[in-house]
Amino acid sequence: MPEYKTAGIILAGGTGSRFGSDIPKQFLELCHKRVIEYSIDKFLNLVDFLVIVSHTDWLDFLSFEIIKDRDIRAVIGGDTRQMSVYNGLCVLEKENPRVVAIHDAARPLFSEDLLKRCIDTALTGGAAIAGITSNDSLAREGDGSILHYIDRETAIRIQTPQAFRYGDLYAAHLGARLHGKNDYTDDSQVVFATGTTVKIVKGEETNIKITSPVDLKIAEAILTLSD
Ligand code: CTP
Ligand code: MG
Repeated sequence: MPEYKTAGIILAGGTGSRFGSDIPKQFLELCHKRVIEYSIDKFLNLVDFLVIVSHTDWLDFLSFEIIKDRDIRAVIGGDTRQMSVYNGLCVLEKENPRVVAIHDAARPLFSEDLLKRCIDTALTGGAAIAGITSNDSLAREGDGSILHYIDRETAIRIQTPQAFRYGDLYAAHLGARLHGKNDYTDDSQVVFATGTTVKIVKGEETNIKITSPVDLKIAEAILTLSD
């Protein structure tokens, strides 16, 4: 057993407004299991402590229907994803893990191997994100027209899991809050703003983020095909 501890934070504090269902997308059924349970099962195999960040309206559901008697802590989220992560980090203050991996509950299909590679890279490199290249050409738009093109060869699409040294991520979040910045859309941006190098771990095409109903159908198809 290594002497350092690792932690995971699974983010389920959103309501899935783009998905448009009464039940937030992370709690919908996907091939006989709730979407969030795919992430929970993989994280429990690899981390010492697990925290799930929940929307306040869904805390009871999460506690009684999903967590049940398992050794997982739940905390209420914030108005933005960044604020939700911060609440999760606060819960881990006493445990002070060496590394913390952050993951969107809306991404059920990542592999345990990807999570492990992120954690291992964070242990040696300090910050690690799952990233994949784009098969489409990329451009910046304004007013419905192309402003300029972005070189596809050097662009990546950033996924979760992402792993960080716990102390680095916590300090970076505190700094961002102090500067009134609360809307970073992922944690690599929070630590990058402090000058930390963010290493890229090869992500997975199948690690889609369920955003709209068609993504749930795609996830179902991927799971069925890989059976
Ligand atoms: N999330 C969170 N707290 C927030 C907002 C989002 O914990 N205040 C979580 C979501 O539950 C999700 C992940 O962050 O697992 C990525 O966010 P996204 O895919 O944008 O989910 P939602 O914000 O729920 O969806 P939408 O933007 O369509 O409302
Ligand atoms: Mg959102």
